[in-house]
Amino acid sequence: MPPIKIAVIGVGLIGPRHAETVAASPNASLAAIVDLMPTGKALATKLNVPYYQTVSDLLESADKPDGAIICTPNHTHVAVGLELARAGVNILVEKPISIDIESGQELVRTAHEAGVRLLVGHHRRFNSYMLAAKKTLVSGELGDLIAINGIWSTYKPLDYFDPPTEWRRAKTGGVILINMIHEIDLMHYLFGRITRVYAEPIPSRRGFDADEGAAITLRFESGAVGSFLLSDNTPSPHNFEAGTGENPLIPKVGEDFYRIFGSNASFSIPDMTVWSYGSDATKSWHSPMSKEQIKVDAITPFVSQLEHFVAVIQGIEEPSCSGADGLSALIVCEALKKSLETGAPVTIEFPKI
Ligand SMILES: NC(=O)c1ccc[n+]([C@@H]2O[C@H](COP(=O)([O-])OP(=O)(O)OC[C@H]3O[C@@H](n4cnc5c(N)ncnc54)[C@H](O)[C@@H]3O)[C@@H](O)[C@H]2O)c1
Ligand SMILES: *[C@@H]1O[C@H](CO)[C@@H](O)[C@H](O)[C@H]1NC(C)=O
Ligand SMILES: *[C@@H]1O[C@H](CO)[C@@H](O)[C@H](O)[C@H]1NC(C)=O
Ligand SMILES: *[C@@H]1O[C@H](CO)[C@@H](O)[C@H](O)[C@H]1NC(C)=O
Repeated sequence: MPPIKIAVIGVGLIGPRHAETVAASPNASLAAIVDLMPTGKALATKLNVPYYQTVSDLLESADKPDGAIICTPNHTHVAVGLELARAGVNILVEKPISIDIESGQELVRTAHEAGVRLLVGHHRRFNSYMLAAKKTLVSGELGDLIAINGIWSTYKPLDYFDPPTEWRRAKTGGVILINMIHEIDLMHYLFGRITRVYAEPIPSRRGFDADEGAAITLRFESGAVGSFLLSDNTPSPHNFEAGTGENPLIPKVGEDFYRIFGSNASFSIPDMTVWSYGSDATKSWHSPMSKEQIKVDAITPFVSQLEHFVAVIQGIEEPSCSGADGLSALIVCEALKKSLETGAPVTIEFPKI
């Protein structure tokens, strides 16, 4: 098959990493770089590809791609995505899909009507530990999923909230929309959709409008339940980044952040230990427990995510994180915020598209 032509839209912080990944892929070719700012031109020159200032310029050119990766600021994702979708270009949009549910829904609907594939860049689904965890869950070794216990607890220093990012002090800058959205998407990936939430706020110490965390109760579509502790104001190694080492700016510690309880065994991540009564012992609290270590294959999430995007465009794979999945994560975050405001549980209705 000829390489799939992919353009990268927006090359600020994260865009260049996508562009370099595309340029290095045997199955994709970098069609062009688009950025409103002339800095985009320098990267295009370096990677020896055409540069366009706007998406419209790209779409009118001979370099119109098969797919595009949208790495522009959050509030522009939908507008840029709509323009690409209407022109028949497949999309991988960086998370979050949109800044509100209605506009995200419009993008999902438009992509569907235009017959283009829409992926959302929740690249943690391609983290080595998560791929191995998913495999273990799917294998049935744990039995039926009964409950999960999750933690995302860390400490953001005060200067994180200083200009030019003082928007993080506002209601929309809190830990739910910025960090919990990743946890929600991971739980959707591993355990299925969340259908009810209740959030009890942790004490606010900073005094900003932004939420600092919550003790959260979850119900999943499968009937399984979960409890989750979220806090960005408590020093702790129990969070995805410190656990897996996926972010080079956050030191790896390797402590657990998910404990999963099945009818046959329990399983914790990222130590990847399965605890059960083994095949010989009686299943009873009086029996000694045995542990098994799940193997993790090292992979590069950005590369796997791109290869997945290519395979989806080729019609070989179904989207791992579809537009509807990206939207679902946002919908659950909104439900959590509503629960914090009302002090009551919130039942979640997912739109048909
Ligand atoms: N998955 C991840 O790990 C990860 C990490 C960082 C950022 N992100 C996401 O990626 C997106 C971009 O983040 P960033 O930190 O790179 O942002 P950034 O502000 O550094 O870069 C955005 C770039 O887009 C350009 N741009 C803005 N509007 C445009 C338009 N209409 N057409 C073309 N170019 C346009 C800007 O000139 C800028 O160069 C955000 O949605 C963010 O949430 C994801
Ligand atoms: C390229 O595509 C082929 C066929 O789909 C696949 O087997 C191969 O793994 C891909 N290459 C990479 C680096 O993923
Ligand atoms: C339960 O777990 C044990 C140990 O991991 C395993 O040997 C057994 O096959 C599992 N049972 C089921 C039904 O998967
Ligand atoms: C939006 O984009 C920025 C990157 O510029 C990111 O840090 C932030 O967490 C994103 N999400 C929200 C909800 O603002």
